This record gives sequence, structure tokens and C-alpha cells, in this order.
Amino acid sequence: MDSSMVGWATRLGERELGTVLPRRWAHSQGVAARAAGLGYLLGKDTVLLEAAATLHDFGYTPRLAVTGFHPLDGARFLRDEHGADERLVRLVANRSFVLLEAEERGLRKTLEAEFPLLSPRHTGVPPRTAPGRQRNADTDHDITQPLMAVP
Ligand SMILES: [Fe+2]
Repeated sequence: MDSSMVGWATRLGERELGTVLPRRWAHSQGVAARAAGLGYLLGKDTVLLEAAATLHDFGYTPRLAVTGFHPLDGARFLRDEHGADERLVRLVANRSFVLLEAEERGLRKTLEAEFPLLSPRHTGVPPRTAPGRQRNADTDHDITQPLMAVP
């Protein structure tokens, strides 16, 4: 993955989100910095996670709010208007607890159909295990959970 993806995400976020929701944009930049700090875990996929973190709240941008459910609105815009990388779009769509909120909004089937969850098969990220520890099947599949947990 090309590191220019992060530059693209930053320029897009600054233009779309930073101009209308500067505090949300500052938060997104903070999340992106945390993602960048995980490079030792992710290797080449650090760029992907940093770009997704940069754009994870992109759907809050008022002009993009079609459904009012920002993970879905942001992912759709990135997919439809920018032809963004599929894994990036799916990470933006699938943040912490997104399926619970989607269920409450009556959008779960739509979200799952358009943006299925990523798995280690898609990211190449190994399961989160350490020597001497048991594999945690509940958390191995989504390394973005701690980063995307902020509302
Ligand atoms: Fe956020």
C-alpha cells in the first residue's frame, strides 16, 4: 500500500471535515496519529489503518450526511465519489460497535451487505497473540477496535 494514501486521506479530511467541523477533524488527526504508532504491529498495513483512522469520522461532514449514520455515509462517499481502496472503505464503515448502532437505525443489513467486516485474511495482520498467551478469538479479527471506539 502506497503511503500517498495517507496524504490523500489527510487532504480530503482537511478539505471536507476540517473546514466545517474542526474539532472533529482534530480528533480524527489524533486517531490517525495513534494508528501510525501501531506500525510495529501492522507493517505495510500501517498506511491503510492510518488512512482509515484519518477518515473514520468523515461521514459527519454535513454535505455527506444522507442517512445520518456517519460510518455508512462516509464509506459510501469514499467508495462512490473517490473510488477509494475497498479495504479502506470497509474499515471506515466498520468501527467499534457499528453493527449495534446500525441495528438500532434499521441499517444493519444494508451496512453488512455493502461493507462486510474485514478479517485478517484481508489485512494480512496476524492474530493478536503474544508468546505464552492464549489467542483471543473475539478480538483477533479487528485490530481497529481500540482506535475507532471514540464516538
Ligand atoms: Fe471518532
